[in-house]
Amino acid sequence: MSINRAEKICWKKCWILNYVLAFLLFTIWCFSMMWRWHPVVVYACKEQMIYSQPESNKPTRSDVLILSPWLAPIVWNGTYNSVILNAQFHQRNVRVGITVFATKKYTIFVQNFIDTAEKYFMVGHKVTYYVFTDRVSDIPAIDLREGRHLVVLQVPTYQRWQDVSMRRMEMIRHTSQERFINEVDYLVCVDVDMIFSDEIGVEILSNLVGTLHPGMFSVPRESCTYERNPQSEAYIPTDDGDFYYAGGFFGGTIEEIYKLTNFCHNAMMADQAKNIEAIWHDESYLNKYLLYHKPTKILSPEYLWDDDFGRPDYLKRRRFLAVRKNHYQIRNRR
Ligand SMILES: *[C@@H]1O[C@H](CO)[C@@H](O)[C@H](O)[C@H]1NC(C)=O
Repeated sequence: MSINRAEKICWKKCWILNYVLAFLLFTIWCFSMMWRWHPVVVYACKEQMIYSQPESNKPTRSDVLILSPWLAPIVWNGTYNSVILNAQFHQRNVRVGITVFATKKYTIFVQNFIDTAEKYFMVGHKVTYYVFTDRVSDIPAIDLREGRHLVVLQVPTYQRWQDVSMRRMEMIRHTSQERFINEVDYLVCVDVDMIFSDEIGVEILSNLVGTLHPGMFSVPRESCTYERNPQSEAYIPTDDGDFYYAGGFFGGTIEEIYKLTNFCHNAMMADQAKNIEAIWHDESYLNKYLLYHKPTKILSPEYLWDDDFGRPDYLKRRRFLAVRKNHYQIRNRR
């Protein structure tokens, strides 16, 4: 009896040892297979992405509006999955252009703008920076990642910053036909006295894109700083208006950007002939356009923030930030 028991224990131990040995061998085999099939596994993962399923009975955000009444998404953190979006836009091999105007002393902002864009803007996608300037030799040579280019375009000098700002529409319109249409699929038009401080990716791309102005977020339409002079081409009556859009960040396909800049430039010229200048210059005309040509996507103030507006709860990320500066000094120095 006692011998039998001892034998049993021995057998038990042997079985455990066998299991351990088998498990080890299996693990080694797995690793060797993974090594051998590594490229295939990686390829398969690319083809079939792993991501959490959208939950049809669970809203992504409950504190902010994420869809306009004309069904344009309002882009906030938490409302989209960049794994899905990146794969979709890579499939289309999308090319993105970004325009900035750096005239006079504003050339000092270019280096930081591009350096931070290299880190955060459309990472992994094809990007062309279009820098419009009257001081071509002041634009530094900047190391760019693969698939990214810098194009410097000469523009005339305008003395007043309001003119510099307004003429942007004319120059974007002109370059849309000359260059953009042949070189990029989407255009993003932004201010240069800014830095990227968090990811901005393909979630912002759509036919026509406007950005909620950080200083006018949730302001009632009658208090928005739209142009109120009925003589002006930028006029918006007090009982109209959806959102107040920022002049410092708009975008879309080249065709849509052409239409937008064409409207804004023509409206400005018509006003100029009447000796009228809209209250917020190009921004006033942009707001007029976007009110009657609704954007297909709207960016939350995450995409254009100024720390002067504090850090409200709804703002989960600050992706594109105004550089602190003395407005007067930079704008008026020659
Ligand atoms: C942003 O959204 C993602 C989900 O898409 C979430 O995991 C993350 O915590 C959010 N970030 C912040 C700062 O709330």
